Amino acid sequence: MEIVTVGSYAEMSEIAAKIMIGELKKCPRAVLGLATGSTPLGLYKMLADAYKRGEISFRGVRSVNLDEYVGLGADNGNSYASFMNERLFGHVDILRENTYLPNGLAEDLQSECRRYDSLLDALPRNIQLLGIGSDGHIGFNEPGTSFIERTHIAELAKSTVTDNSRLFECGQAVPERALTMGIADIMSAEKILLLANGKNKAKAVWGMVSGQVTEDCPASILQRHKNVTVVLDGDAASLL
Ligand code: GLP
Repeated sequence: MEIVTVGSYAEMSEIAAKIMIGELKKCPRAVLGLATGSTPLGLYKMLADAYKRGEISFRGVRSVNLDEYVGLGADNGNSYASFMNERLFGHVDILRENTYLPNGLAEDLQSECRRYDSLLDALPRNIQLLGIGSDGHIGFNEPGTSFIERTHIAELAKSTVTDNSRLFECGQAVPERALTMGIADIMSAEKILLLANGKNKAKAVWGMVSGQVTEDCPASILQRHKNVTVVLDGDAASLL
C-alpha cells in the first residue's frame, strides 16, 4: 500500500487527478471504477478541466460505479446516477451508454445484483477509485460484510445514514438500503486509488492502514491488494 499524505484537499485531488489522467493517457479505452460522495468532487472537477483543455478524452472509456441507493433513479437529484451526471459525465465526452451503475429502481433487486456481477465480469477495471466511510466502509460494504461478497443489497449502518444525510436535500430521508459492488469485485481491479480527507475519516484510515485485516473494518482488506495508492490530507492521516 502506497500512502501519500498531503497538506490539503486541493492537493489530494491534484495527485488523484494526475494518477487518473496518467491512466487515461496510457489506456484511452480504460474501464474506470468510479465512486461518489464529497471526497472525489475536486478530482472530478479537475478531470473535467483536463478534458476541456484537450488533455484527455473519455470517448473510449467505460465506467462502472460502486453503488446506488435502493429506490432512487437518475431523475432523483439524490441518486448516485444523478451525481455522476452532474459532477462528471455531463462535463466530458464519455458516451452515456458506456456508463454503468446498479439500478436502484429494479423491481427484482436480486436479479439486478446478478446482472451487475455479469457486467463486472465483462468489464475488469483498470483502476478503481474509492472513498472511505467513517466506519471503514468502501462502496456500501459496511462492517461485517464478507470479503468474498459480490454485488448485494446492503443495509446501511446508522452512522452512514447520518453521515450521508448532509448530501441530501432538506427534509428528504436517506434510503436505508443500497445496491453495492462487493469487496471481491473491488479487489479484482488492477489498481486501487483511495482518497480520504478530514478528521472524521482518521479512525477508519488507521484501521485500513495499520489495523488488523478484519471484516469489522472493510477497507482493511486493501492491505492484501498488490497495487493500492492511498492519498490523504493531514487530518485523515492524523492517527497514523
Ligand atoms: C458513501 C459512498 C462511498 C463513499 C462514502 C464516503 O457511503 N457509498 O462510496 O466513499 O460515502 O463519502 P464522502 O466522500 O462523502 O465522505
